[in-house]
Amino acid sequence: MKEKFYVTTPIYYASGKPHIGHAFATLYADVIARYWKQKGRDVFFSTGTDEHGSKIYEKARSAGKKPQEFVDEIALEYKKAWAALGIEYDGFIRTTSEPHKAAVREFIKRLWEAGDIYEGFYEGLYCPECEDFITEKKLKNGLCPEHLREPEKIKEKNYFFNLQKFLPRVREALASGELEVVPQSRRNEMLSIIDGGIPDFSITREKVKHGIPFPYDESQVVYVWADALVNYLSVLGYPEGENFKKFWPADLHIIGVEINKFHSIFWPAMLLSARLPLPRKIFVHGLFTVNGQKMSKTLGNVIDPVELVGRFGQDAARWLILSQFPAEEHGDIKESEFVQRYNGNLSHGIGNLFERVFAMAVNYGFNMERNNRDSRSAEVEKRVELYYQYMESCKLFEALAEVFALAKMADRYIAEKKPYLIFKEEGLSEELKQSLSFLLYILDKISECLAPFMPLAYKKIADYRLKIKEGKAGKGAERQKLNLFPLL
Ligand code: ME8
Repeated sequence: MKEKFYVTTPIYYASGKPHIGHAFATLYADVIARYWKQKGRDVFFSTGTDEHGSKIYEKARSAGKKPQEFVDEIALEYKKAWAALGIEYDGFIRTTSEPHKAAVREFIKRLWEAGDIYEGFYEGLYCPECEDFITEKKLKNGLCPEHLREPEKIKEKNYFFNLQKFLPRVREALASGELEVVPQSRRNEMLSIIDGGIPDFSITREKVKHGIPFPYDESQVVYVWADALVNYLSVLGYPEGENFKKFWPADLHIIGVEINKFHSIFWPAMLLSARLPLPRKIFVHGLFTVNGQKMSKTLGNVIDPVELVGRFGQDAARWLILSQFPAEEHGDIKESEFVQRYNGNLSHGIGNLFERVFAMAVNYGFNMERNNRDSRSAEVEKRVELYYQYMESCKLFEALAEVFALAKMADRYIAEKKPYLIFKEEGLSEELKQSLSFLLYILDKISECLAPFMPLAYKKIADYRLKIKEGKAGKGAERQKLNLFPLL
């Protein structure tokens, strides 16, 4: 039987159209899912939209829409964007869907029956943008430091989850790596939050209209985070679905740093209460700003992934989003550099390399056989090996860098060997055959490694290679161009 791999993205608030931050996390998961599929694993890749809570209720109201009508439209925007980017998920979960609600009720029942939910009172502050309770100490000039918004004063009856009971066990899972949180600095942050003391959290909210009714007290709805986290189970058909039996626990949750506490502390505690296995790994990525500032509609610096695909094509848009900086870090995206980066790295870089080598093969009548060995093969293999290691430790930026280093190596090889001069002087000699077959060998490696990142380019290259083999690519001025990344 094939080994399984279950990878998830956060489910995004259905409060507005997706921006490149959302696209980043979803592409990250897509590339990793494609990689493991290519390696023969049985993969399930889930994403979706988080459609309950006070923030969404407010947004729907200000748009003059009913909450359900509003989230229906936004969920569609997400699906459209993911289709444009070539993101191939296996499950898209919406928290307002019936199967999800049923899964949440079942999950809450487990926690309730385990005796881990108790009635209490919450008095304090709440930031609807974070959908989180906030302490006075964290405020800056009376505002939530994250959203620069004044929190609401809340005094209400809530049901609480007995987090304290599970903290020692969660701590142990984090410290031992049973639940691996990477990078390690993000794990250490969670350990110090636990060591500093963290109160039990409300698992219900009173007076919030848009949510799943709490089964044991209808004056309450399930707290939006308790509701949302269950998506990782409901998308698999929890509690009885075949996919649930096959794919849980998650092998990899991909999340942004701002929601780490919910995933690395609350979620495992709830799973322990429900007597379910813990996820294996949580990869925490940094957040980016655009042109030096947090993305905001008012600043006009929100980059729409669909527009990006329109300008650069699907593969290049995927690459532009994923190749900015190592995912563990926070970083800044400069939109003004997109065209230059595209032209430099894709059009003049990889695109040009494939065009030149394929043109030589066609025009010199080389039949594309691969005998490939050269003194430099070991260096190629070393880089490919590194690429595998990076892909398997979620270091996509570093993995891509290896692929581009291979392309640079091929460029250098052409500059040194000058195959076009050999052809001029000797025709299709043994030396030229050897050079071309080595180049084709590198190109094959490059296209295999690029496949999870640039699925369309991979296909285009494979189709073109077939054309050459069948003598259908034309010759000289008649040659059909591969045209991977047209110059902009
Ligand atoms: O937090 N840079 O949803 P959300 C990089 N519904 N990634 C970014 C980003 C940025 N500027 N902005 C967002 C929620 N992201 C909850 C999650 S999961 C059970 C519930 C990405 O719409 C990043 O992965 O605010 C972040 O964690 C996620 O989108 C949050 O999306």
